Amino acid sequence: MIHIVDSISSTNDWLARYYSEMADTILAIKQSKGKGRHGNTWESQIGGFYLSTVSSNHKLLPFVVGISIMKVLEKDCKGLYLKWPNDIILQGKKLGGILCEDFGDFSIIGIGINFENELGIDNSTNLISNNISIDKSSFLASFLYNFDINSLLTSEEIIDNFTEYDCLIGNEVFWKDSFGIAKSIALDGSLVVESNKKELNLYSEEVHLERN
Ligand code: BTN
Repeated sequence: MIHIVDSISSTNDWLARYYSEMADTILAIKQSKGKGRHGNTWESQIGGFYLSTVSSNHKLLPFVVGISIMKVLEKDCKGLYLKWPNDIILQGKKLGGILCEDFGDFSIIGIGINFENELGIDNSTNLISNNISIDKSSFLASFLYNFDINSLLTSEEIIDNFTEYDCLIGNEVFWKDSFGIAKSIALDGSLVVESNKKELNLYSEEVHLERN
């Protein structure tokens, strides 16, 4: 079932509590306690797109979600990229993010995309300021359709697709006190970087294209 609500604390939290079957979905006009990755708050004013859906577990779930979003948005957006592991980037700025939460028997996928909302964080952007207008219900339908198809891809195909869209690969990247060159994405979803002539696998670090 697809629920559409005016206001909710967090679509991810609501669905984790009240979902009844796979693919149950909720779209909110705004959230009062939107959650981002690493315990951050996700600013969720009117005008943004706040979606959660229930999925079976998949070890590459954020990657399947990312490529499914790209398949929907790429025809309307120039300069659109994914940034390993969960960010959607438009013209070098953050357009949206993905928060997948694993509950053991199932996962909740949360997607936040800046459509027309005012921007809360530095270095973020929205569709409207790039003169892009996309209908939220068409986006929702098209995303769910693409997500079903992409869930059937092999791990190799998922990673190949994601790598094609990723803005880090081939570039110098910075994380914690270190830096290196992003080489590839491994089949377990880790980012392979070369640093001090050694290859390392990064799993959940915040990785940036610029030194912070
Ligand atoms: C990130 O930190 O980049 C991920 C942001 C994910 C935000 C979305 S909005 C819909 C869903 N409900 C939440 O509380 N968070 C996710």
